[in-house]
Amino acid sequence: MKKVVLLLGAVMVLAGCHTDMWVQPKTTGYKESELFEDGKSARPLEEGVVARGLLKTDSTRFKGREKDGALVSEIPTSLTIWGEKVNTKTELKKVLQHGQERFDIFCSHCHGKVGAGDGMINQRGLILRRPVATYHTDRLRKMPVGHFFDVITNGYGAMFAQAPRVPVDDRWAIVAYIRALQFSQAQPKSSLSAEELQELDKKKLDPAEQAQKDGEAEHEKENAKGGH
Ligand code: HEC
Repeated sequence: MKKVVLLLGAVMVLAGCHTDMWVQPKTTGYKESELFEDGKSARPLEEGVVARGLLKTDSTRFKGREKDGALVSEIPTSLTIWGEKVNTKTELKKVLQHGQERFDIFCSHCHGKVGAGDGMINQRGLILRRPVATYHTDRLRKMPVGHFFDVITNGYGAMFAQAPRVPVDDRWAIVAYIRALQFSQAQPKSSLSAEELQELDKKKLDPAEQAQKDGEAEHEKENAKGGH
């Protein structure tokens, strides 16, 4: 009996001196280390190292510029939208729909739903050195698509860069949608059918004003429903 008690005692004492597996002789991120001269455990990357998937050699896609720095005049032929490869020539509608959605989320509060520079926060208190731009000017209609990609990526004047929020392929989809907006707002009356003209007469507003009004009407409806 005495022996058993002794043995049990020994087991208890020994069990108290073990090293748990989660305490290991290893280092973790940002820990100090005496092993290396610079005192850091994390090793610096070799010069020129590029993380997988981040080698951005294609300047037309990632900068909107040719190798000589000239702005590109066409969007890439293939974009990845929600993980799916989309051909921008044969599936343009998908690209535009995605562009519209992204534009509405990331740009319309300043630029307005049709890009006339009349977004809601612009109307209600946004104060910048310069007013929000409308896309419907001759200068911007003539700008190559690369310019729009560049503006989204790097910002422009008083507008801050959107690159941290809008991934590269989404930016291209937005660019395509801006082109569609420009096209939609710059059609001469003579290009409309009799039916479309009648429709327009009923509204008696230019399309940008109408879009604004529609937006407000929708807002009213939401309010009436007892929203915020
Ligand atoms: C916080 C408000 C704000 C947001 C959000 C914003 N912009 Fe702008 N944007 C501006 C302002 C202000 C200007 C005018 C800048 C200037 O002239 O200094 C401008 C100018 C532009 C121009 C005209 C550049 C030129 O050559 O004159 C384009 C194109 C543009 N924005 C695209 C976009 C797109 C696309 C998005 C969304 C991804 C976006 N902006 C989001 C405020 C905004």
